Amino acid sequence: MRSLLAGKKILFAISGSIAVYKTAAWVRELVLAEAEVTVVMTEAASRFVSSLTFAALSGRRVYTGMFEHDAGEAMTHISLASECDLFIIAPATAQTIAKLANGLADDLLSTLALANRAKLLVFPAMNSAMYCHAATRANLARLQEYGYTVIAPEEGKLACGEEGVGRLPDWETAREEIAAACSVQDLQGQTVLVTAGPTWEALDPARHLGNRSSGKMGYSLARSARRRGADVILVSGPCSLTPPPGVETVHVTSARQMHDAVLAHYDRADIVVMAAAVADYRPKKTMAEKVKKSGRATTLELVANPDILKKLGSRKKQAKRPLLVGFAAESSDHLAEGERKLLQKNLDLIVINDIAGSDTGFEADTNQVSILDKEGGLEKLPLLSKDECGTRILDRVVALLQ
Ligand code: C5P
Repeated sequence: MRSLLAGKKILFAISGSIAVYKTAAWVRELVLAEAEVTVVMTEAASRFVSSLTFAALSGRRVYTGMFEHDAGEAMTHISLASECDLFIIAPATAQTIAKLANGLADDLLSTLALANRAKLLVFPAMNSAMYCHAATRANLARLQEYGYTVIAPEEGKLACGEEGVGRLPDWETAREEIAAACSVQDLQGQTVLVTAGPTWEALDPARHLGNRSSGKMGYSLARSARRRGADVILVSGPCSLTPPPGVETVHVTSARQMHDAVLAHYDRADIVVMAAAVADYRPKKTMAEKVKKSGRATTLELVANPDILKKLGSRKKQAKRPLLVGFAAESSDHLAEGERKLLQKNLDLIVINDIAGSDTGFEADTNQVSILDKEGGLEKLPLLSKDECGTRILDRVVALLQ
């Protein structure tokens, strides 16, 4: 998010709903992501939260009135609108939406919206009866016709005490919408299936065989693909991460469940990225009762799990799609192992992942990978955040699609 928004000029327009208080945190997050945020408030919005709060959080002057420009300066509504890279209206009240739909320009916010040429995101927030009213629905449809992106509010308990649709989304959802607005939509129309996390192979009701995968790399890939416009199916092994908003997530536990879930969704996929650390073996028998301690040495018989990626690779021999990307998590012989897996599993790309260091591989927030293609081309990436790493892997996928 930081690299996406660094230096981006965001005009953040706020109209008068109780949800204004939530956007204070959004402005803070955008500033932390190094965006240059200029806040514009309607008169009603500044009744809910003082403009002082937003001035302190954005580190910039907050604009509220139409005629605040000093003599000799460009007109505020023209200069603010012409300088921004992204225009966000949050919360957008029924009144502001109605004004925008009808091209009214009787305050700074609506005038700026009319003068704006940048991408415009509208986050409606209001009482559910107001949101569901035919007038508001028609006005929102109009805004979409103008090319504005309208982000549907969420359902839940509203500040007015009622339950229903109309809540301003939480920051995680807003962040993804803003990141998507700042990303090239080069995966639009593609369905990307991503696997992530470990698998757990049950020994008895209390124990399992697992591995140290945190799921971070796979979740970053899913998030990044979504931001780039893809429809994303995330098949996730057990981990503590929250699935990215807008991603269809299937939770599984064992390798066999992951196998079934991947095959159930495989036909829809244009691209499959297997970032999961699938257990190669499982206990031959899963005990129905917890095994009691005997104090004696014991042996555990293991049987091989299906190799999901190999199966997809052999199916692909007859077809062009989906594009297959595998991971090779290695602590030694990285390149040789990567080459072998690329060939054996009939992959388009393999991401060779060093798991020997503490800042790369399992659990870390950063990763150091090399990407090997079928022609033998090797791209060694520097140590990157897992989000950036996901972006670079998808850049290679997009290049192959073209
Ligand atoms: O052969 P190896 O397990 O090292 O290959 C790693 C790649 O294969 C990863 O992309 C992993 O998700 C996938 N894999 C799989 N099914 C398995 C084991 C690994 O799809 N049973």
